[in-house]
Amino acid sequence: MSAVTVHQVSRPLGFPSVDDFRFVRSRVPEATPGTALVENLLWSVDPYHREMMDGLFELGAPLEGRTVGRVVASRDPGLVEGEVVLHRQGWRTHAVVRPEEVRRLPAFDGVPLSAFLGHLGGTGLTAYVGLTRIARIQPGEDLYVSGAAGGVGTSTARFAKLLGAGRLVGATGSPDKAVHLTSQVGYDVAFDYHDGPVEELLAQAAPDGIDVFVDNVGGPHLAAAVAALRDFGRVVRIGTIAQYNAGRPVPSLIDDSVVVEKSLRIEGFLVKDHGSVQEELYDFAVPHIQSGRLALDETVVDGFEHILDAFLGMLRGENTGKIVVRAT
Ligand SMILES: NC(=O)c1ccc[n+]([C@@H]2O[C@H](COP(=O)([O-])OP(=O)(O)OC[C@H]3O[C@@H](n4cnc5c(N)ncnc54)[C@H](OP(=O)(O)O)[C@@H]3O)[C@@H](O)[C@H]2O)c1
Repeated sequence: MSAVTVHQVSRPLGFPSVDDFRFVRSRVPEATPGTALVENLLWSVDPYHREMMDGLFELGAPLEGRTVGRVVASRDPGLVEGEVVLHRQGWRTHAVVRPEEVRRLPAFDGVPLSAFLGHLGGTGLTAYVGLTRIARIQPGEDLYVSGAAGGVGTSTARFAKLLGAGRLVGATGSPDKAVHLTSQVGYDVAFDYHDGPVEELLAQAAPDGIDVFVDNVGGPHLAAAVAALRDFGRVVRIGTIAQYNAGRPVPSLIDDSVVVEKSLRIEGFLVKDHGSVQEELYDFAVPHIQSGRLALDETVVDGFEHILDAFLGMLRGENTGKIVVRAT
């Protein structure tokens, strides 16, 4: 058996291509004293990977990222063979880890491991922190979510309903995904943002306005939401996927005076600064997963050899919910 890692070998100009990456085969690494060998089971591919490819990822080295794997050989008493851990070594079939580099994953009855990359992982934590710490959502409040059909967007909608939110409006990239949002995920209204100016589409979808905008996309959605927000409305700035392949900021022409007149709050955050909320997320979400009230929104791609297809597909909008790659 050999190990495989994926390296970035060139900087993408605009949308990345398969030629920017290489699958590299080598011998399976061995655990050295103080480490353990992990065989990886599940990988997360994320929009932030695209951002990092412009300069932060080293060329010719494996791509990092959230990964779930099983300890198969250990030379440290802190890591036990058979236990399942989350680490950040990313796009590789095997990883050698130190105890302080991993998080042990609890075993919750009826909860599949993939949930630790979705509702219970960084994706769900982002949605939960956005709603409870940044928006500080109140029962009955109405939301607009951009990037509504993706990982963060679906966690946001499902958590918001469980927290007592009012009407949910979502924007996504195709008519089929808009139907999926209203029929499966719990959005009250959804539109395809290609169908016209977002400001007009949002005004039609939320004629009485919104209290909170959860923004995964940036660009024109922010201006549209500022126009639709009620007094004391909040904008949760989560991501800017509209500009990751554009190579430059996508302008958002918000009316600054409206921000003052309506007493709006616009606030961004990074989930890495909110790790202390992880246990609270488990307490909130796990019972709902176990009872069936909180469905897992996932697109699962089988086979590590398809990790690049999964990543590029996610950037093209081929996923609904959290996209996860699973070892076969
Ligand atoms: N602040 C944080 O700490 C934090 C943590 C996690 C994620 N994020 C951010 O949250 C956002 C969502 O992440 P995710 O992991 O949940 O990804 P995701 O939404 O599951 O996948 C990306 C989705 O973005 C949409 N998209 C792609 N290009 C677009 C464009 N030009 N304009 C509008 N939509 C576009 C596609 O859906 P459509 O078919 O709908 O276009 C695609 O499915 C990203 O911006 C990410 O960087 C931030």
